Amino acid sequence: MDFKNDDNVMRRIKAMNDRVSMLKENDLYFYNQPIQEVRGGAKVIVRGREMGMYASYGYLGLLGHPRINAAAKKAVDQFGTGTNGVRTLAGTLTLHNELEETIASFKHTEAAVTYSSGYATNLSVISTLMGRGDYVISDKLNHASIVDGCLMSGAEFRRFKHNDMQDLESRLQQVPDGVARLVIADAVFSMDGDVIDLPKMVELCKKYQAYLMIDEAHSLGVLGKKGSGIEEHFGLHGVIDIKMGTLSKTIPSVGGYVAGDKELIDYLRHASRAYIFSAALPPAQAAAANESFKVILDEPWRIERLNENTKLFIHGLKSLGFDTMLTTTAIVPVLCGTDERAFELTRIAQHKDVFVLPVVSPAVPDGQARLRATITAAHEPQEIERAMDVIGKAGKEIGII
Ligand SMILES: Cc1ncc(COP(=O)(O)O)c(C=O)c1O
Repeated sequence: MDFKNDDNVMRRIKAMNDRVSMLKENDLYFYNQPIQEVRGGAKVIVRGREMGMYASYGYLGLLGHPRINAAAKKAVDQFGTGTNGVRTLAGTLTLHNELEETIASFKHTEAAVTYSSGYATNLSVISTLMGRGDYVISDKLNHASIVDGCLMSGAEFRRFKHNDMQDLESRLQQVPDGVARLVIADAVFSMDGDVIDLPKMVELCKKYQAYLMIDEAHSLGVLGKKGSGIEEHFGLHGVIDIKMGTLSKTIPSVGGYVAGDKELIDYLRHASRAYIFSAALPPAQAAAANESFKVILDEPWRIERLNENTKLFIHGLKSLGFDTMLTTTAIVPVLCGTDERAFELTRIAQHKDVFVLPVVSPAVPDGQARLRATITAAHEPQEIERAMDVIGKAGKEIGII
């Protein structure tokens, strides 16, 4: 790129690239590490070495499941590798309709609509529903795709303190009468692993007549006895107006969805731009996602196993002296403090074949850098014990515990 001036574009690029060079020189660069092979849900080959995988979103260990692979292969044989166009113009396959029916049934709603990614879902759905003059009120730790959707909508954008229902109420009180308002939160927070206080949130949304949207990226397959998500977890049914989720985490595919009343879904099909102007899910991915929901229902032991492994991992790390923040789920932050400490802990753990990854600022606040470790149903208890031993010894060496 031919830089014209000493301007902001050049400064931004240089600042980032200097940081990357420094990290690479110090063997602390963990971005985009290529995985050479996936061995079941809990092991991967990286740089020629088999490592225990503790950075996966595949919470139920479904990646590579024979039934899901077979469904994807069958779809390729029947439909090929792409579609004839966007959903509205020759891109809709019977597979898409089947998937959307499956999601609606799994989420106990009248209907569902799918998009090509979770990110695009949030962006498009929020900005389609909300507009200038409306209010969107969002938890401070919500995912970037929610923040971007709120900003894109042009609505008044307010943020409440993380999981603080008093602060949410005061934000709701500030909304002028007669104005549409939407409250949005992650069900399980992607960096902290804690669960939103849904019962109180529902009460406030009713009191202030706000719509409620919940992003279930990290709660689908994780919360609730049957893995159907946060409503099941709290025993509250039909309280969320807009149930958003992804098909790229517990569901080993790609894509995003919204489940809700038929009127809402019909509207989104005719008005949301990511549905109308972007390619449909490829056949293999739609079929894989569809089969995954069925496997979750047929193999409930996976959820029990995930819950047992989660307890073992959180309890073990806490006993070693780590701060795992407020997590109660499969996302387990291991607080390190400075970015350098998080990088160093990652480096030592990976050298001992425990694949963890760091999360540093600006993704988390300065001074709260961490490992964002995850646990799945595919891990064996003795593997988890070994990983904790490695992380514990490294934590002591660096002075975190
Ligand atoms: C809470 C949350 N919402 C949305 C997304 C975006 O989903 P996708 O990766 O399927 O685009 C993510 C992904 O990391 C997420 O964590």
